[in-house]
Amino acid sequence: MTILPNSDSLVFRETTDPEVIKYTHFQNGNNWKGELSLEEYVQREAVLGKSEIGQKGKSTETIKRFPEGHEWVGLKYFILENLEVNSEKVTDRIVSSCEILGRLGSCVYPGSKVEPCLVATIGGVYTSPENRGKGYARQMIEALNDHLDGVRDAPNSPDLIKNMVVILYSEVGEYYSNMGFKSEHVPLHIVTQLDEIEKRYCHQGTIEGRELGFGGYEELVALQDKAFSRNLEKVRKLNPYKFIFTVSADIDLYKWFAHRDLFIMKKTNRMQKDLKFGFALSDNSHIIWHHNWSGDSLIIVKVFMEEGKPDAQLTLCKLITMAVKETKKTGLKSLVFWDQEIEIKQFPELQKELLEMEHESNVYAKNSSLSAFRPPKGFGVDNVIWDNNTKFCWF
Ligand SMILES: CC(C)(COP(=O)(O)OP(=O)(O)OC[C@H]1O[C@@H](n2cnc3c(N)ncnc32)[C@H](O)[C@@H]1OP(=O)(O)O)[C@@H](O)C(=O)NCCC(=O)NCCS
Repeated sequence: MTILPNSDSLVFRETTDPEVIKYTHFQNGNNWKGELSLEEYVQREAVLGKSEIGQKGKSTETIKRFPEGHEWVGLKYFILENLEVNSEKVTDRIVSSCEILGRLGSCVYPGSKVEPCLVATIGGVYTSPENRGKGYARQMIEALNDHLDGVRDAPNSPDLIKNMVVILYSEVGEYYSNMGFKSEHVPLHIVTQLDEIEKRYCHQGTIEGRELGFGGYEELVALQDKAFSRNLEKVRKLNPYKFIFTVSADIDLYKWFAHRDLFIMKKTNRMQKDLKFGFALSDNSHIIWHHNWSGDSLIIVKVFMEEGKPDAQLTLCKLITMAVKETKKTGLKSLVFWDQEIEIKQFPELQKELLEMEHESNVYAKNSSLSAFRPPKGFGVDNVIWDNNTKFCWF
């Protein structure tokens, strides 16, 4: 618990009380429930809280791998209380709240090898309407920064925690830049002309491979993770004096998207039998997606192709073909991907078709989720590289 400097009445602390957590979801659901009712939204957040990634720090595997520091992996909830509010009930005193999803990542410092790091992702930053504009959210994030710095810099903190990086996805533009965060805009590509892309770009022949369900493709995720480590080394060679980090590829992360997806599908009566979440070609190249029912789009979460394969253009074409098929099959209206996931300038055929088919506002479109990171100790914002900053690590 921290009493904020310059205030006798504001207290920042973590909460593990399920009733308090539920209350914060009832509050912030007003902003994020989308097509769900408030009750359904609160239920969904409870499902995600109990999901594999939400509880990852408590898994035997994580505890074994990180006997110290595992408790920072998974979801944590924080509140800012105003003690001036004359009430016995904690929930009456809450003025702002937020969450952190702690995920495993990898990083490299100048001159050292790849090391594990905790990527603490801030989400759910919320102040109730009557309390807005009084500096509460800013003070809460500043207190959270101090709290995380304290944990990171404690004398006995394990390497996982010493290497902590903090990231977030802002829905309120540059709001966080005054709190030490550096924004990084990753543009989107939005394919709305599904019939056209099928005709002009997609693969016309049979595509051999297998559909990906809710889980059961751990070996493919392991390939992603190896490629991430190789890429960190590669980026380091080009940037020997920078701190470079990535969120690790993790099946539990993809399950988190699938949980959201299935929950909203059921609650909004968009039932599909045996929903699929991706496709793998026979050479293990694969694509993972999530159905954004509220936005009527299929979002590509990850594309994996072994580096240096001579037929990368064709492989991508096949993977996108499967995503277009899924978009149409599930009645969604567009296919969306982040440019860091598929850098279209590296795929001239795709780029050409997109530029010809789509309205200019759909290619390199503004991403309403603005990613931002807080540089680790000893590094300025210009000396940090966030590798693989794409939808898969969004929270
Ligand atoms: C964003 C939010 C958390 C700010 O809470 P707060 O306690 O009022 O924040 P502060 O008092 O520290 O700062 C207020 C400033 O936030 C900024 N801000 C608020 N909403 C904003 C938006 N949609 N876009 C850009 N800036 C915004 C403004 O600069 C505002 O300044 P103003 O009061 O002069 O207009 C609050 O408006 C909220 O809960 N919004 C709905 C949920 C949300 O969007 N959360 C952010 C998710 S990343």
